[in-house]
Amino acid sequence: MTFGKGVCVSVFVVDGGRKLAGEVSVQGSKNSALPILAATLLCGGECVLYNCPRLSDVEASLAILRYLGCTAYREGSTLVVNTDGMDRCDIPPELMHRMRSSIIFLGAIVARFGRARMSFPGGCELGPRPIDLHLSALREMGISISEEHGMLDCVVEDRLNAAKIALPIPSVGATENTMIAAAVADGTTVVANAAREPEIVDLADFLNACGAKISGAGESTIIIEGVEKLTPACHTIIPDRIVAATLMSAAAVTGASIRLKHVIPAHLQSVLPVFRDSGCEIDINPDGLRISAPYRLHSPKLIRTMPYPGFPTDAQAPVMSMAAVADGMTVFVENLFLSRYSHVSELCRLGADIRVEGKVAVVDGVRRLLSAPVRAHDLRGAAALVVAALCARGESEIGGIEYLERGYEDFELVLSSLGADVKKI
Ligand code: EPZ
Repeated sequence: MTFGKGVCVSVFVVDGGRKLAGEVSVQGSKNSALPILAATLLCGGECVLYNCPRLSDVEASLAILRYLGCTAYREGSTLVVNTDGMDRCDIPPELMHRMRSSIIFLGAIVARFGRARMSFPGGCELGPRPIDLHLSALREMGISISEEHGMLDCVVEDRLNAAKIALPIPSVGATENTMIAAAVADGTTVVANAAREPEIVDLADFLNACGAKISGAGESTIIIEGVEKLTPACHTIIPDRIVAATLMSAAAVTGASIRLKHVIPAHLQSVLPVFRDSGCEIDINPDGLRISAPYRLHSPKLIRTMPYPGFPTDAQAPVMSMAAVADGMTVFVENLFLSRYSHVSELCRLGADIRVEGKVAVVDGVRRLLSAPVRAHDLRGAAALVVAALCARGESEIGGIEYLERGYEDFELVLSSLGADVKKI
């Protein structure tokens, strides 16, 4: 479908009510690939990244690398990035606004080039996305940052210096920006109250493969002993735990038994109990898991989103679609983002019974959802609507699929391979 200036927007048409079956491999992690692509700027030469998902956010990161003078090309799920040709240190507004998490390039560009210029990343559908923790950490490492007219202008006189950073919030992005800059800083940096997500560990693994000396990733205190130079490396991106949770919700709402390959169960330690409490059987095997849903789901009762290893905020929306058709009431408390309930009004159009009061959403499970035209307003909300449409009787049209394509690779093909009737128009 094209509108206006030929802008192509996609919709999904889902004919719900089919039981999924079969097995599928889970894609590589978007939230691991993005910071690792930024970190390639620290090492000249050619890095090879395996299991990189084909996503619009990854394409946006490659566009930034190419704009900076690097070369990047894809062979299937393998990305080859060579940053030798880097000859710029600015990210233009249009590239910044294409992907707000472009802020993750800040530490890498300054560490490599001594200077960086980029516009303030706008807020996004989840509400304001402050970057104060990124900037205060980088300032402590000797970067002078001016914020004028919506632009960030960063300069470091000589080499970055190590610092003792204490994050008031275990921010994923601020932890990543600090790790990347500290990897080549002069001295040993300590990050206290660091984010503990698996994507932080994957970034540290990549940087260490390039010659960095990072220890403690995955724990609350990370120690980064700065080195003079990093060299290029090959790395395999970890599986996407949020896509895995989304596929588990799809299986749960369709009463299915499916097998997910390329899942690291340890990364789902706070998600698996929610599915088990809902009556799903989960069998763990060496490289994945099988989930078998009951005829009628029980409500998981209470879900509070927390920094890792707590229940991930990114799984809140897809799991809410499961709660919407479970027997009983579920209370969600969204502690990470101010407005991460944009999917609620759309789920109610499908017949869900959900009331929102601030950061609390109360879901009263119904027996059936009914098809309707709905529209996504953010990435994980889009995933929630697809999951809900899979169990809604009749044909639902879902708009805003461009949000879904930021984080889910070929999702209509993945679901169709499990027996769903999903068409992308
Ligand atoms: C990362 O965002 C993820 N994005 C998000 O996934 C995820 O929801 C989030 O971490 C939390 O897990 C990527 O990894 C690309 P934060 P990030 O900094 O780094 C506040 C998705 O769906 N904060 O951990 O931006 C912030 O407002 C996306 O894939 C500050 O106040 O998240 C939020 O309330 C959405 N100041 C909280 O911290 C700062 O400088 C956690 O944010 C930075 C953050």
